[in-house]
Amino acid sequence: MNLEQLKPQIISIIADTNNSVAERLHSICEVLESHVSYYNWVGFYFKNGDKEELKLGPYVGTPTDHTIIPFGKGICGQVAVSNQNFVVPDVSAQDNYIACSITVKAEIVVPIFVNNKNIGQIDIDSNTADPFTEEDERFLEFVCAQVATILE
Ligand code: SME
Repeated sequence: MNLEQLKPQIISIIADTNNSVAERLHSICEVLESHVSYYNWVGFYFKNGDKEELKLGPYVGTPTDHTIIPFGKGICGQVAVSNQNFVVPDVSAQDNYIACSITVKAEIVVPIFVNNKNIGQIDIDSNTADPFTEEDERFLEFVCAQVATILE
């Protein structure tokens, strides 16, 4: 599936105010996981109130024990601090990595900004080695910008 072709679906999910924010975020996870063969776990993490930690939000995929991740820990915790996309072609090459499933080979995390503040992120695990390109980064930046509009 061409990532560009998914954009209209993302826009219509975001616009559907009959559903709660959590339901809309879950629908986005479903669309991404079901239409992109190498997106095998798709979820959102958000800053947990005033704490320096991330809390798991809506997701699709194998349940994870890592529902709370301290800032700085793992790929997700590093993005909470760096404010930058983190593309990991090979998770086994990372020292600061939190394994959720032994099937995962690669990961991409893209931050979500509301009023220029990093308030969370989308996290995608892949069972395929080195699958992510700049096209994924640009597409996921689009998804995060859309999500930001309903979190303001
Ligand atoms: N691998 C992540 C932890 C979250 S799971 O992928 C769902 C990390 O290193 O931060």
